[in-house]
Amino acid sequence: MSGRVLILGTGGTIAGVAESSAQATGYRAAALSVDQLVAAVPALADFDLETRQVAQVDSKNMSYAIWTDLHREVVSGLKDGQLEGVVITHGTDTLEETAYFLARTLVAAKPVVLTAAMRPATAVSADGPQNLLDAVRLATDPSAAGVRVCVHGLVLPGHAVRKRHPYAINAFTASREPGATMEEGWYTVPAALPEPLGFEPDLPWAWVEIVGNAAGQDGRTVDALVAAGVQGLVIAATGNGTLADPLLEAVRRAQQGGVEVVVVSRCAEGHIVGQPEHGLPVLCVTAVQARVELLLLIRWKQGMQRARVAAAKPGN
Ligand code: SIN
Repeated sequence: MSGRVLILGTGGTIAGVAESSAQATGYRAAALSVDQLVAAVPALADFDLETRQVAQVDSKNMSYAIWTDLHREVVSGLKDGQLEGVVITHGTDTLEETAYFLARTLVAAKPVVLTAAMRPATAVSADGPQNLLDAVRLATDPSAAGVRVCVHGLVLPGHAVRKRHPYAINAFTASREPGATMEEGWYTVPAALPEPLGFEPDLPWAWVEIVGNAAGQDGRTVDALVAAGVQGLVIAATGNGTLADPLLEAVRRAQQGGVEVVVVSRCAEGHIVGQPEHGLPVLCVTAVQARVELLLLIRWKQGMQRARVAAAKPGN
């Protein structure tokens, strides 16, 4: 028997069940347990597997509470000297956010592999079993240390994965080109993932929203969100990071009021090249991943503030 791996189940289509094997839509996600998924793949008998059902949801309902539980279970798996790696079964719909959340909060010296499926487990040609087997194999390879997504024969970086299609079997891609490119005549290497921000489970989650630039955008949504107390805004900008003038003015007012702002491109592929003229902070990730980044950044700032207050207390 090779490789001891912890598999954490969270639901999704990989655990989905339909009335007929011909159905690849209209099924019930998150119906089978992680143990049932493992039992359906005979080749997994070659591995020493430990399983835990962390949640059982359609990932459209992924929550901060589940992220907190998942983070705790992964950290405990990473600390367990007997385990070679961790696999997470997940729905495809918010996989890019959970993968990004883990990539930005974990120092993973072992593989942490998220996997999923586009077809339910009952489909005539279900993709889940192969994906799960691949994910477990990958989790036993020390050279794959870090947060990764393993689907449909691809291994994608957790911080850059993107769901590009709502139905196709090969629904995932990496949002950043994996290699270096020539951009504006400059040799450009994709930025390395910054140091993880860490994660303190007991801090509150901030309110962060995504606002898109579009024809006729007048900035009213931003003003309304700021008036309602929003703490962070991701602007899904047009093209290479542009904002309509009234939106830009509203965003600057929001920033002056203390709202954290980042800009990403609303284009389905690629990312913003260089620094747009408006000078707002730019991120080269998808809008939903940028939202996770702001959630973590605001928590991190709150953690720093809490540490400062504690250090300033008399007796410290
Ligand atoms: C989900 O995200 O849980 C349902 C859809 C899927 O997994 O493909």
